[in-house]
Parts: sequence; C-alpha cells; structure tokens
Amino acid sequence: MNVLLAGGAGYIGTHTCVELLNAGHSVVIADNYSNSCPEAVARVEEITGKSVVLYEADVCDKAAVDKIFSENKIDAVIHFAGLKAVGESCEKPLLYYRNNIDSTLTLLEAMEKYGVNNFIFSSSATVYGTSDTMPLVETMPTGTPTNPYGMTKLMMEQILTDTAKARPEMSIVILRYFNPIGAHESGRIGEDPNGIPNNLMPFITQVAAGRLSQLGVFGDDYPTPDGTGVRDYIHVVDLAKGHVKAIGYSADHKGVEIVNLGTGMGYSVLDIVKTFEKVNNLTIPYVIKPRRAGDIAVCYADASKAEKVLGWKAEKNLEDMCFDSWNWQSHNVNGYK
Ligand code: NAD
Ligand code: UD1
Repeated sequence: MNVLLAGGAGYIGTHTCVELLNAGHSVVIADNYSNSCPEAVARVEEITGKSVVLYEADVCDKAAVDKIFSENKIDAVIHFAGLKAVGESCEKPLLYYRNNIDSTLTLLEAMEKYGVNNFIFSSSATVYGTSDTMPLVETMPTGTPTNPYGMTKLMMEQILTDTAKARPEMSIVILRYFNPIGAHESGRIGEDPNGIPNNLMPFITQVAAGRLSQLGVFGDDYPTPDGTGVRDYIHVVDLAKGHVKAIGYSADHKGVEIVNLGTGMGYSVLDIVKTFEKVNNLTIPYVIKPRRAGDIAVCYADASKAEKVLGWKAEKNLEDMCFDSWNWQSHNVNGYK
C-alpha cells in the first residue's frame, strides 16, 4: 500500500516508516518539522535503503494537503501529526485544539474528496482519565483527561467514531498508545525532544549523557510496591510494528476499531532507573521530588485485544528498551543536531 504518514518525521512516525518500508509498503511523509527535522527522514532512508516521498507541509493547510493527495495515489493515512507536550497544552490550549483537531479534520476531508478510506490514528492511554481499575480495557468508558492535550485525543476519537458511522466504507483504527520508549537498534533514529524533556526516558538518557545533572523522581508515596509511579512502557519498534498490522487489518475491515498498544506489564520509575543502570553499566543520580500535578499512580494496558484483532503482541522487554534508548542517545548526544 502507499501510506501517507502525517507527522512521519517524528519519533513514532520515523520508526513506523522503517517498519512499513521493510514490510514492502511505500510511504509519503507530510511534516511541518514543528517537532522534528528532515535529517530524521534521511536516516530512515539510510536504515532501509529505500526512499520516501517527503513534503514539508502543515497538515492543517487544506491546499497543501490537497496537493499531496492530488500528486500521489494514497491508499491509507496514519495520523501522527500532533502537539504532545502536556504542560505546554495547559499554557496554550488554543494552539493544541487548533493544531490537533484541525489536522485531523483536514486529513479526513481530503480523504473523502479523494476516496481514501483507511485511517489509523495515534491516540493515547490518557483518554482513560484517572481510572483506578487496572488493567485498562478498550470496553471501559473513557474518562476525563487532566489536560488539553488529552482532551484533544478524546475529541478526535469522537470525531473519528462519528465519521466512521457516517461513512460506512471507511476503516478507522484508533490506537491507544501506552508509554513508548526505546529506539531503533541501529541507534540512528530515536526520541529527540525540544528543550528539557517532560517524559521519563529522555530525561534519564540526558542525565546519562551529562546534559542534565540528575533525575527528579515525581513522588515516592504512591500506593505502588516502591511508592513511585507505575506505567506500561512499550518499545517504539514494537509500537511501530503494531501500525503495520493495523494497516493490514484496515485493508480487510470496515468501521471503527479501538485498540490498546501496550505490553500489559507495569514498571515503576525506580524499576526503569535500576534496569537502565544495570544494562548500560551506568549510574543515574536522582532525587525524590513532590508528585507532578495530573499524574496517576498506576497505568497499564490489557493488551489482549491487539493480539486477537491485529495479531500483534509486544516482543521486546524492559532491558531492550533501556539498552536501545541509551544506544541512540550515546551515539547522538545532541539528538539530530
Ligand atoms: P513527535 O512530536 O515526535 O511527532 C509528531 C510529528 O508531527 C512531528 O514530526 C511534528 O513536527 C509533526 N507535526 C505536528 N503538527 C503538525 C502539523 N500541523 N502538520 C504537519 N506536521 C505536524 O511525537 P511522537 O512521539 O512521534 O507522537 C506521534 C503521535 O502519537 C502524536 O499524535 C502524539 O500525541 C501521539 N502519542 C505519543 C505518545 C508518546 O509518548 N510519544 C503517547 C501517546 C500518543
Ligand atoms: C505523559 C502524559 C500523557 C502522554 C504521555 C506521552 C502527563 C500527566 N501525562 O504520560 O498524557 O500521553 O506522557 O507523551 O504528563 N517521571 C518522573 N520524573 C520525570 C519524568 C517522569 O518521575 O522527570 C515519572 C512520572 O511521574 C510517571 C512516569 O515517570 O510516573 C512516566 O512519566 P512520563 O514519561 O511523563 O509519562 P506519563 O506521565 O505516563
């Protein structure tokens, strides 16, 4: 299939691009580089020995999106293009609502115009809100996300569900990601956040690289085995392979399908620190800090639907995730710069 990756130059997009190309698909990427750079795509081409069609484009821009659909025969769209910094979304909610929702609407309108029916969407476990019931199952009612970023994901899930109802020829797969970490085993592509990282693993790798002095652990008084927050970390290459399976699934099915992409396992912040130290033979200095506003104690997936529906299951373990994260960061101390 010829797959359009909106936001394909980013962290998850580049890893998915590698897996799609390796599986024999062709790829068109549209990205405005608001949180990425063309070098990341060049490295995808280097890893795979294959080329992609690349557009520098804002996918909220109707004319730019129309041009892409008119110049390429697109069979399916994977929509990664979104702003994702939780804290920033509280400071600039309109920017987040405008970018994340407008990009989705613009892509869906172009798909309708050009008769493209297969859509895969990057959602997040954040749509479950602050549920105390674990594991999180797709059949549970969604909750209220604690920030505008999360609200955009919930709203887009609703937009997609309504669209699928109105256009029965469509196949929409909503993938709810848990916590993607790790990097491609080549060490050539990986996560490269702007400024000080918000997320745990890039913070740890930047401490290890000497860019930051120590990790702050947000709370050690949660009702968890060691008191620190528990999450379902998933290797980004496993996550990327989940998209290849979703593309295959969407070719043969209609309607909307919501699927968790997680491992089903929960690890604490200190589990991550200790495993990172062990596999990489490093020490990560850390201090315990107060809880971070909006955090929940525990979050992990029921990952059984992905196996049943998509025939996908995460294969890599926490050691792989910690090893590959550091392999990327240590070979690219300043990311792609
Ligand atoms: P990322 O920031 O690395 O990638 C997103 C890409 O989209 C970037 O390359 C950015 O430049 C691009 N982009 C943003 N707005 C755009 C626009 N209007 N037009 C064109 N390009 C645009 O983020 P990621 O980690 O790869 O995340 C991909 C998607 O998955 C996002 O929608 C994110 O919300 C979602 N998600 C990510 C995580 C995570 O932990 N990384 C978890 C759950 C969901
Ligand atoms: C966060 C977002 C979530 C988003 C996801 C991916 C919040 C509240 N949630 O999830 O909406 O989908 O990122 O972008 O921001 N931690 C530390 N020190 C740090 C960083 C994190 O102790 O410097 C802890 C956190 O308290 C948490 C765990 O590490 O227990 C994971 O944090 P993080 O990587 O930010 O992911 P989430 O909070 O799960």
